[in-house]
Amino acid sequence: MIIAVDGLTASGKGTIAKAIAEHFELPYLDTGLLYRAVGYQTVADGGDPDSPEDALAACEFRSDLLRSSALRSEETGGYASRVSVHPEVRQALLERQRAFAQQPGGAVLDGRDIGTVIAPEAEVKLFITASVQERARRRWLEMQGREIDIPLDDIERDIAARDARDINRKDAPLRAAPDAMVIDTTAFGKEQAIDAAIEAVRQALR
Ligand code: DC
Repeated sequence: MIIAVDGLTASGKGTIAKAIAEHFELPYLDTGLLYRAVGYQTVADGGDPDSPEDALAACEFRSDLLRSSALRSEETGGYASRVSVHPEVRQALLERQRAFAQQPGGAVLDGRDIGTVIAPEAEVKLFITASVQERARRRWLEMQGREIDIPLDDIERDIAARDARDINRKDAPLRAAPDAMVIDTTAFGKEQAIDAAIEAVRQALR
């Protein structure tokens, strides 16, 4: 059983996907982390995230990089969004994601193109959204918790820019698969969002 959880940046898809994986006892892959590793490695090597050659060379990152907290920063998220527009990079990361999705016992993957490109055969597809204001507010709260002080307006602008880049790129643009269930978490707290998603998975499996 493959469960694809796609959605907008800071929509809560990571939290939801992790909770689904735990609930249904399935292995979980955060595919955004792969793009973050490529973005981070590109810049660490002195490259430019907008250059397909530089970004492709960075796809050979060491796997222990995936455990680094540096990948979680907003800055790295921006680099990830920029390297993810290059078809070469998407191709280089494709097999690894497909192999994870197709392991015998099933899997949960979260990202942007799981239900459309990586695993169009997924039994369950969720697409998580929330308003840009609410997503900015959540990011802001999370940053405050980590004692990082960035104005809410700046965060909102960054999120809107990443949405636009993810939606408008030519290769595998961010779209809900036609057979995905859309869950808008704008008015939901964390537990409510998780409950709604688990219920949606149950319904899809019925
Ligand atoms: O989910 P995230 O914020 O960690 O993702 C970072 C960037 O990586 C996102 O802006 C676009 C890209 N990405 C992608 O293009 N395809 C995926 N399956 C996952 C992430």
